[in-house]
Amino acid sequence: MPEAEIQKDAAAAFDVPRHVAIIMDGNGRWAAARGLPRAEGHRRGVEALRRTIRAAGEIGIKIVTIFSFSAENWSRPASEIGELMGLLRWFVRNDLAELHKSNVRVRVIGERVSLEPDIARLLVEAEELTKNNDGLTLVVAFNYGARQEIVRAARGIAAAVKRGDLNLADVDMDSFAQFLDAPGIPDPDLIIRTSGEQRLSNFLLWQAAYSELVFVPTYWPDFDRAALEFAIREYQQRERRFGGLAAQTGS
Ligand code: IPE
Ligand code: IPE
Ligand code: MG
Repeated sequence: MPEAEIQKDAAAAFDVPRHVAIIMDGNGRWAAARGLPRAEGHRRGVEALRRTIRAAGEIGIKIVTIFSFSAENWSRPASEIGELMGLLRWFVRNDLAELHKSNVRVRVIGERVSLEPDIARLLVEAEELTKNNDGLTLVVAFNYGARQEIVRAARGIAAAVKRGDLNLADVDMDSFAQFLDAPGIPDPDLIIRTSGEQRLSNFLLWQAAYSELVFVPTYWPDFDRAALEFAIREYQQRERRFGGLAAQTGS
């Protein structure tokens, strides 16, 4: 068995979360603490992202969702939005081939219609190129807001019922979830937020119903494999009950 496989096998025995979602926060504060422009924090954030994707694959995580730009981030100054859009372009152009080579499958969630056409094209290109890969799935939440996603799903359901493709009686949690942005992706087991903030900021509200939440003080540009492993160890201390009873008291 190759070394990497042994590592993954061992990882499975330690209850590695299948799906980890990350709110990559604190780029601006990381930069401010060093007297640097916020944009530098975002650039260093991309490096942290590369490290984290690599580490997640090595640890044996199957799905990583990253919050890269929220539907509410449009309220930032135009210059910062420009930097962030530029970074996304750069990341896709620069890193897509490498991700593809590493067997990563890219999926994108969030609203696409109002994006600049070249960005929308890059996102489609990333999904198309990697659609048959079966390694790590990287879900990129871009121009994403969870309430907006739920409204889109409600509209999709309503349209399907109106067309006669779906009976109202068949609308339940499972069929509803099929109308969310990434049907078929299981809910995150663990949601990590960096930078010390303890809120979801409109991220995965539907999918987070039973996720374990771990808040770490690290600013995103400093995040690395050790920080990821720290969060996973915290996750492993939790007892997931899903409304049932604790394992030792149930029979
Ligand atoms: C996260 O860092 C990146 C995005 C939200 C796009 P921030 O830019 O929010 O950094 P802080 O929270 O101001 O430090
Ligand atoms: C959440 O961070 C969005 C992303 C990480 C992309 P924000 O920095 O935008 O969240 P708030 O404004 O502090 O809640
Ligand atoms: Mg922030």
